[in-house]
Amino acid sequence: MDVTRRRLNAATVQPARPAVSNSSLYFSILTSVAMVALVAFFISCRISRPLKQIGEAAERLGRGESVELDERRGPDEVRRAATAFNTMGARLRRFVDDRTRMLAAVSHDLRTPITNLRLRVELLDEGETKQRMLDNVEELRLTAEAMLSFAREEGSEEARAVDLVSLVESVCEDMADVGAPVSFDGAAKLPAICRPIAMRRVVRNLVENAIAYGAEARVSVRPDGGDIRVTVEDRGPGIPAVDIERVFEPFVRLETSRNRSTGGVGLGLSIARSIVRGHGGDICLENRQDGGLRAVLTLPAMHVVGDDRQGRRTPARQIAA
Ligand SMILES: Nc1ncnc2c1ncn2[C@@H]1O[C@H](COP(=O)(O)OP(=O)(O)OP(=O)(O)O)[C@@H](O)[C@H]1O
Ligand SMILES: [Mg+2]
Repeated sequence: MDVTRRRLNAATVQPARPAVSNSSLYFSILTSVAMVALVAFFISCRISRPLKQIGEAAERLGRGESVELDERRGPDEVRRAATAFNTMGARLRRFVDDRTRMLAAVSHDLRTPITNLRLRVELLDEGETKQRMLDNVEELRLTAEAMLSFAREEGSEEARAVDLVSLVESVCEDMADVGAPVSFDGAAKLPAICRPIAMRRVVRNLVENAIAYGAEARVSVRPDGGDIRVTVEDRGPGIPAVDIERVFEPFVRLETSRNRSTGGVGLGLSIARSIVRGHGGDICLENRQDGGLRAVLTLPAMHVVGDDRQGRRTPARQIAA
């Protein structure tokens, strides 16, 4: 009986598991997980950093800056994306340059026949017809001049960092110096990347419109989230809602402003919007509740480290009443 039990006992004994093999298993699992995470982190950095750079470059290209990406860095796919981006940028630049050169050539060549035409009309007998023809020739001349100066500025200027507040203020001062009713109110300093001559032209167009059609221009420059907001307000009749987008089309002038004394050809707003959109911003018009029109220009602000512009304001400044 004893012998049988002993035999049975011997058969059911389990070998004790060695404690060392358990902990080394956990250790090797942890090490592998850490290594996989490290490799994944490294790969995602290698891909996400260049992708972020491509995104930023696309944004700058949209603002009219010339940007080129390094085509030798990063994995194959990223290098290919950088090459494609650079090719696209070069094509876009060539396209804009060709268009600008053609516009400059056409408007330049139009000047001579327009001058000849004016000289011939001057020789006609005095009368209503002669005056009408002179008005038409003058309109042609102004159109050709407007196209030429647009092409000149568009073709030759590079975008750079500019304090938009000083730029707008100096346009207002120049106009106030010759007696125009312009007032200015602005934040302390708001840097933006832009082509300053083109941007001056945009602001001048908006201020000239406010004065011509709305008797005065009240200009202000303020930060607005990540944008800079320039507003030009007047106290004129405003623009009927149905026409508020149409006036941005080239050569559109409303019936009320057909009067030649305002001197326009209907290109100001369309040129201004095209310049601002080329900088990644936009221009909109809105009728004010208390009468008059408000032109709102928005432009992406340049990011400045440690920027405290929200709190800094200069007091409203009246340039001319
Ligand atoms: N502040 C304003 N108040 C009322 N109407 C306006 C105002 N600004 C523009 N408009 C209307 O929009 C039209 C188009 O303006 P735009 O500046 O494009 O051309 P323009 O002033 O007629 O000529 P120019 O090419 O010399 O600027 C104007 O003719 C006018 O009818
Ligand atoms: Mg105008």
